[in-house]
Amino acid sequence: MRRLVAETVLTVDDLVAPLFVADGIAEPRSVPSLPGVVQHTVGSLVAEVERLAGLGVPGVILFGLPRPEDKDAAGTQAYAPGGITQRALAAVRDRVGESVVLMADCCLDEFTSHGHCGIVDPRSGEVDNDATLPLYGEIAVSQARAGADVVAPSGMMDGQVAAIRKALDGAGLTSAAVMAYAAKYASALYGPFRDAAQVSIAGGGDRRAYQQDVRNRRESLVEVLLDVDEGADVVMVKPALTSLDVIADVRAAVDIPVAAYHVSGEYAMVQAAAERGWIDGDAVAVEQITAVKRAGADLVLTYFAGHLAALLADG
Ligand code: PBG
Repeated sequence: MRRLVAETVLTVDDLVAPLFVADGIAEPRSVPSLPGVVQHTVGSLVAEVERLAGLGVPGVILFGLPRPEDKDAAGTQAYAPGGITQRALAAVRDRVGESVVLMADCCLDEFTSHGHCGIVDPRSGEVDNDATLPLYGEIAVSQARAGADVVAPSGMMDGQVAAIRKALDGAGLTSAAVMAYAAKYASALYGPFRDAAQVSIAGGGDRRAYQQDVRNRRESLVEVLLDVDEGADVVMVKPALTSLDVIADVRAAVDIPVAAYHVSGEYAMVQAAAERGWIDGDAVAVEQITAVKRAGADLVLTYFAGHLAALLADG
């Protein structure tokens, strides 16, 4: 009876796996604050995407990490045709064909020496929103050319979706989709991600000038509706569990797919408590991701994707 009347059913079809691929490493490297997550080589990444495809996971999102010495103020490696993300996309596409949706995080922070998601104006020391937009266009075009089906701008610059859509269309990449990190909070839950992505913000700065204030709910709808207007194909809310109200608001307000990102800190907390035997990690993972779907998300980006796929397959 419970099966018959369940309102929300979590399936493997809802999951997207975030994956890291690093330039200049010979072996995959573990990330201590994200147990089970590694920085891949291009080779190990291809194998992992094949494994996930075998488990039925429909999508992956790639984060490319340049060699530390290749970072610069303009984040050049983010849009270099031979950059790590572009090489990884091509290699994965080559091996798995069309069986997995390939998404690419479209941002600068992994590639800039100062760690911000945009170009920093040397006079003011602040991120220059409008100077950043053409670079996002270049990143998106280079990623779509390399094989990305979906580019996912995560930098929260105003006008980023319109700039990217225009750049993609101008390059003839009209079928590349844009999944916008639309409502993204300046959250302390991204800590382990910054370890995994080797990002630290110069001078101990933060992203509060471009990411949202957790105290604000209605602001998310403003952000989301702007992105829909600018041509987003999917809108994302992030983090997930601290934004269930926002996910529900967004679901009610738009008719395009809604994604939610269960972020690194959310994953790490479950893993840490489970390691100590304080909670049942598998049960909590299923409960949390189901709740994110219940709130209104059509797809969930989660570091649990592969594990959940295996769990769900076992019933
Ligand atoms: C920015 C980006 C971040 C995450 C995804 N894209 C970090 C940030 O905004 O500081 C965080 C994801 C996570 O914590 O799992 N490129």
